[in-house]
Amino acid sequence: MSTSRTEPAAPLWCQSLASISCIKAAFDIGLWDELRDAEEQGYSLAQRPLSRVFWQTLEDLGLGRLDAEAFVPDQSAIIALATPENRIKAEFQALAAADLLEHGAFFLARDGEIPEDSRVFQFFNYADATSATPKAPHRVAAWVDYLAYCAVRENDRLADAVQLPAGARVLEIGGNVGLFADALLQRHSTAQAVVFDLPGVIAQTPNFPLSDAVRGRLSFEAGDLRYDRLPRVGGEAPSVVVFKSVLHDWPDATAQGILAEALDHLAPGGLVLIVERLAESFHALAMTPANAHNHAFTRFYRTPQWYIDAVAKGQAVATQLDTVNIDTGFFILGLTKTPSGEPS
Ligand SMILES: C[S@@+](CC[C@H](N)C(=O)[O-])C[C@H]1O[C@@H](n2cnc3c(N)ncnc32)[C@H](O)[C@@H]1O
Repeated sequence: MSTSRTEPAAPLWCQSLASISCIKAAFDIGLWDELRDAEEQGYSLAQRPLSRVFWQTLEDLGLGRLDAEAFVPDQSAIIALATPENRIKAEFQALAAADLLEHGAFFLARDGEIPEDSRVFQFFNYADATSATPKAPHRVAAWVDYLAYCAVRENDRLADAVQLPAGARVLEIGGNVGLFADALLQRHSTAQAVVFDLPGVIAQTPNFPLSDAVRGRLSFEAGDLRYDRLPRVGGEAPSVVVFKSVLHDWPDATAQGILAEALDHLAPGGLVLIVERLAESFHALAMTPANAHNHAFTRFYRTPQWYIDAVAKGQAVATQLDTVNIDTGFFILGLTKTPSGEPS
């Protein structure tokens, strides 16, 4: 998977429920392969009992031409669309849209328990990844792949906005398969990093090869941030701890505890970098199917000030606050550990 593509806007086929449904259906039934193998005169509609609306939608998306009896595929458009990463995007977009339709009372509020049958939360079942040999590896692979889909579209812009000190020893907590750490190290040739994530996630890293430029400087450590000791970096306390799109997953008190532990673990004068979507930017984000994947998490995002206030008084000071607009706003908050933040 490429780590260099930034494509903030949702693809055309995410713009309506009809097109998400048709694209996902085509993946589900293996139609793209059949269309790629179609004869020059086209794919006979008689081969599949699909409605004309389905074929019309494919034509509207620029994927080919619909004749009376056949669909004449545009092969280059089909090849561009029928990728494994678009398959996972279609799956996630469909379940997020379905969740918003079904559970609006939850997703549009800021309180209430997560509905047991929420598709988004069944999809992101981190408990599946607590073992290096998960019972359902395909379920872990699905959300790891989806996170990678998002990460490759966010990383360049975000990594460009991150300033690291020379020789930084970076610990990225919840860094998934290391795509953001990779992007950071590409931009900081003297930095090294350890990515810490659940064992079932780290087991997926061979599917996401590192860039040549960071090989030897980026390593992985499996563990559970709730129970395991945070790793050192290059044999020493990290000088930077990064949380990208991680802390919003946790309730307030837990997020506060995770931050306190990270600050304790940091070298003197070290930096905690928090990268999160900006809660305010969701006010202006239309509730369309194309945005369903973001709206499913609106209620969990916090303001940068929340994170500043979450740190125990005197333990750290905010030394960086930047915003970057991608498909929503993001903020990058740097909290520098103060001498009084040192453990006694
Ligand atoms: C929303 S994802 C963000 C991933 C990545 N930072 C990104 O921006 O694409 C949250 C990450 O936290 C990890 N995670 C969840 N629970 C964890 C735990 N208990 N210990 C360590 N990592 C955990 C997940 O596996 C996942 O990679």
